[in-house]
Amino acid sequence: MITLKNERDEHAPAIERLLDASFSESRWHKTCQRLREGQAPIRNLSLVALGRGALVGTVRLWPVLAGRRRALLLGPLAVDPAWRDQGVGAALMAEALRRAKGEGEKSVILVGDEEYYGRFGFAPNATTGLYLPGPVDRARFLANEFVPGALTGAEGDVRPLAA
Ligand SMILES: CC(C)(COP(=O)(O)OP(=O)(O)OC[C@H]1O[C@@H](n2cnc3c(N)ncnc32)[C@H](O)[C@@H]1OP(=O)(O)O)[C@@H](O)C(=O)NCCC(=O)NCCS
Repeated sequence: MITLKNERDEHAPAIERLLDASFSESRWHKTCQRLREGQAPIRNLSLVALGRGALVGTVRLWPVLAGRRRALLLGPLAVDPAWRDQGVGAALMAEALRRAKGEGEKSVILVGDEEYYGRFGFAPNATTGLYLPGPVDRARFLANEFVPGALTGAEGDVRPLAA
């Protein structure tokens, strides 16, 4: 049994431990990290999963400009290894996306495995005109358009926006 909560300052140390355990040092060198450096995640869309009193999952969303369109960047998403394959990741994704839609956001982008994120509506076809600030496997550069065509014709760099 898990509970989803808004991320708060007090969760930061446990989130860092979970991200270190999930991605190791390489997380600091990921292309998407360039879009997060010095920025703050959107508080009411970034969630933690709590299980038996401990933080067992995290998802964060960040505002970006995709070409000239506002979009959200999702990530990192991570679940404590002891809690994987029990739907925690799916619960975090569903709630974060539900809230983003409710806020009137039109699209979310991320870099990740389509085999996992496809189930939440993500595909690589809407990101073909967009460029991240570093190398990326384009098959893993995915978008979910809440509003059909939200990213149609979006071209250019993806850049951070202040939260
Ligand atoms: C990816 C992650 C967040 C999924 O969390 P979770 O709570 O285990 O996810 P869920 O329980 O909702 O879903 C589990 C299912 O997703 C599958 N899955 C997990 N990671 C996957 C991946 N990278 N590609 C394809 N399928 C994946 C599992 O095999 C499982 O499949 P099943 O439903 O057929 O058994 C978790 O494995 C994790 O933290 N991994 C390390 C960090 C990471 O890779 N983050 C994502 C960046 S792409």
